[in-house]
This record gives sequence, C-alpha cells and structure tokens, in this order.
Amino acid sequence: MIIRYIEEVESTNDCLKECREDRVLVCAFRQKKGRGQRGNSWESEDGKNLTFSFVLFPGHLAAEEQFRISKIVSIALVRLLAHYGITAQIKWPNDIYVGDKKIAGILIENTLSSSGMLSRSIVGIGLNVNQEHFVSDAPNPVSMRQLAATEFPREAVLEQFCEIFETLYQDTFGTATPQIDRLYWESLYRKECAALYCDSQGTFTGTIVGIGVCGELIVRKSGGEQCAYLFKEVSFVIG
Ligand code: BTN
Repeated sequence: MIIRYIEEVESTNDCLKECREDRVLVCAFRQKKGRGQRGNSWESEDGKNLTFSFVLFPGHLAAEEQFRISKIVSIALVRLLAHYGITAQIKWPNDIYVGDKKIAGILIENTLSSSGMLSRSIVGIGLNVNQEHFVSDAPNPVSMRQLAATEFPREAVLEQFCEIFETLYQDTFGTATPQIDRLYWESLYRKECAALYCDSQGTFTGTIVGIGVCGELIVRKSGGEQCAYLFKEVSFVIG
C-alpha cells in the first residue's frame, strides 16, 4: 500500500475517484465532509482518529463476489483491534463493534465493469482511535482510547492495518473463500442468539443463522420463518 497523508480533504473516498494506481491510500488529518453509510456524515475530531481510504482494482472478482471485499476489510479491522488487545466484532454488514458500541465504520464504493466484474473498489474507513468525547448524534460511538485508557500512535496503527489487510487481500486471489467466510462468521456480532431487529413489517425477535452467498443476512424469526435481507432491509435494535 502506498500511504499518503494529507491535511484536509472533503472526503478521502472522493479524492481517490481519479486515482488509477492500485493500492493507494489517503489518510486525512481532517475531513470536511466525511461520509458515512445511508447518507449519514462521519464524525471525527481533527487529528485524533484514522480517517482514510484506499483504492483497489479487483478485476478478479465477479460482481456477485463483491461482498468479499467487505468481509476482508471487516476481518482486518477486527484483527487490528485484537493486536491492540481489543476484542471487536462485525455487525453485519460491516460495522465494527465492541460490545454494543461502534468503534469503526466502513464505506465501500464499488464500480462494476461491463463484463460483470468488479473494476474498482474505494474502501473508506473511519476508526475511532484517540477521540475522548463524541458530540454528534451518532448513536453509540467508542474509541480505542476510551476502551484502553491510553493514547495510540495513529500512523503505526495505520501501518499495522495495511499489513493485516494485504495478507487477507492476497487470499481473495486464491482458493481461500471458505476461510474468509469462516473468519467473518466467527467474528459476527449477535450470531446465533435471539435479539431484536426491525424490517419493513416492524420489530421482531430473530436469530442470525447465516450469511448468504452475496452477503445477505439470514435471520430466523421467532415464528420460524427464515428471511434473507439485503443491506438496508433490516436494522438491529440496540439498547
Ligand atoms: C459508516 O457510516 O459506518 C461508514 C463510515 C465511513 C467513514 C470513512 S472516514 C474515511 C472515508 N471517507 C469518508 O468520507 N467516509 C469514509
């Protein structure tokens, strides 16, 4: 990964849109318009956390396999946090949680080629590192510092992430799919336990019983019906 540090940018995801070089990473001290999922903004105090994006050209993956990028990025973040003694889990599809609090968010923007392959993937990550107070209405943020009661060196954390990610990315070129699926499942938040969810029909009790081939969340409702949800079709009721 080629790492470039920049002072200020609107959004690190956006500033990579013209980049043609594989594995270029941009890390910003300050984002003026950090973007989150579902059109939300991403809160990050200047210089306290890691807000970065990198670009991949994963032409070896078919459109139906695009969730694999999400999986390896999530696994890499869980491994990174484990390296610093923090046990994290993946809240489907790709939020990183410690207990019921969110420590990192991922915004992946994929471009598909006309032949049905993934031509470009811009992966944006916001990892709460040293921020001590959160002021936005983000529901349940937490940082590494809050959990470990110590400051972390941001650049070293980023380099460690890149090292972990590169190994996992190499796995997507080979036959390691079952291994990636297993690692994702092992770290999945709320798997195999009854909890509250909300879908278009309302709030219900369900149990996560699997992940579909394209990344769908498979939930068995308390009445026995099994549903496969795409992103945004179901939300977790937390707290
Ligand atoms: C989420 O809502 O959970 C996703 C948050 C993603 C935030 C990161 S910060 C770096 C990159 N640039 C952005 O504008 N967003 C992502």
